[in-house]
Amino acid sequence: MRVLVVGGGAREHALVRAIVRSPLVSETVALPGNAGIAREVRCIGGRVDDVPAVVDVALRERIDLVVVGPEAPLVAGLVDALAAAGIRAFGPPRAGAELEGSKAFCKRFMKRHGIPTAPFEVFDDADAAERHVRALGRPLVVKADGLAAGKGVVVASDVDEACAAIDAMMRARVFGDAGARVVIEERVHGQEISFHAICDGERFVPLAAAQDHKRIFDGDRGPNTGGMGAYSPPTVVTDAVHARIVREVIAPTARGLAADGIPFRGVLFAGLMLDGDTLNVLEFNVRFGDPETAVLMARLDTDIVPLLDGAARGALPTAALPVVASPAIAVVIAAAGYPGAVRTGDPISGLEEAAAVPGVSVLHAGTAKKDEVLVSSGGRVLCVTALGSDLDDAAERAYRAVDAIALPGSQHRRDIGASGRRRQTPRPASS
Ligand SMILES: Nc1ncnc2c1ncn2[C@@H]1O[C@H](COP(=O)(O)OP(=O)(O)O)[C@@H](O)[C@H]1O
Ligand SMILES: [Mg+2]
Repeated sequence: MRVLVVGGGAREHALVRAIVRSPLVSETVALPGNAGIAREVRCIGGRVDDVPAVVDVALRERIDLVVVGPEAPLVAGLVDALAAAGIRAFGPPRAGAELEGSKAFCKRFMKRHGIPTAPFEVFDDADAAERHVRALGRPLVVKADGLAAGKGVVVASDVDEACAAIDAMMRARVFGDAGARVVIEERVHGQEISFHAICDGERFVPLAAAQDHKRIFDGDRGPNTGGMGAYSPPTVVTDAVHARIVREVIAPTARGLAADGIPFRGVLFAGLMLDGDTLNVLEFNVRFGDPETAVLMARLDTDIVPLLDGAARGALPTAALPVVASPAIAVVIAAAGYPGAVRTGDPISGLEEAAAVPGVSVLHAGTAKKDEVLVSSGGRVLCVTALGSDLDDAAERAYRAVDAIALPGSQHRRDIGASGRRRQTPRPASS
């Protein structure tokens, strides 16, 4: 089987590493990939959301299975265009990608299918949205309807902050058309959990739960990012909680998609809030999480290709997945300036020493080769992943590898997984 992986982050590097190990695969290519992916498979330049160009590459390369990493090409209809060209793809069609591409669609879907989520209203008019917020007079969450690169949600602490968010999104259009419509919902509290399931349009297999760390600084302070690290499994997701998430969230969602006539063959990724016995879905994503994929692939103890290809064919093998008992941690190394204006072109060294730490795998995100030197080329540069006998051990290995890597001006968190383990990993005196 010939496989094309679309995307160029640590998520796609983790997927490529898992895919090339499969005896079912004769060749894997990536579009556009990155400098780390290029060490393992052939990379072809191009934009992931240029749908006709990606379809051309898939045809030219005689690809049997396209695995789509990011959400933008899914929302742009890549899977529909591939299907029209007779090419199998892992990822939902545009109609299914609406679960991530429109928060209003997602909330209405959940309400219609009885999936637990915070009460909400949808507004197309800024004045009406403000009147609603003032009438309720309590802290609410304001969400831009469309894709806003992870910046479109304001958890407002008072009415004025909520109204300011409405003004910025709907009148000033800081997110462009993505903010023409907003969802205003009740604030919920608790522990955030990432939960992935692979679906074939009818059946599904759940993966292990994970927790990610969105803020740039230790202690969940500072601005939001694409994700600074993740770990699995989170302590709060006991077997009973896992079963409950499958029963109350994943199963009705898969059933609802099928009932709505949407052949969803890809990843259902639920962003959950768990507060004691109260479970709420904050959002759905329609692709693998980044950095969650790093820890999920590290812990998945089976060939991923029958799962990806089975889902794409609508014939998923649904036996329970073997997961290694060892926990995993992923620590993101980001460039200077991230998540604001990012400095690129800085040299990266120490990767061999890092990868030599037992249990560690160093995934590339924003990396490129310049005059034969490995340099940073994006906000999130590397994702250092480690398996360990317990979370403390995994963290110790991951941070030993992180400390072996040099990238001028880089930033990373020291407390990844701390909510699930006993001690934090001190920074060595030398750095
Ligand atoms: N109803 C809510 N109550 C409290 N916090 C929320 C709520 N909805 C979202 N959040 C917070 O905002 C973050 C982003 O919201 P989310 O719906 O996941 O959108 P996106 O990932 O597209 O930015 C969440 O990770 C969570 O921390
Ligand atoms: Mg989210």
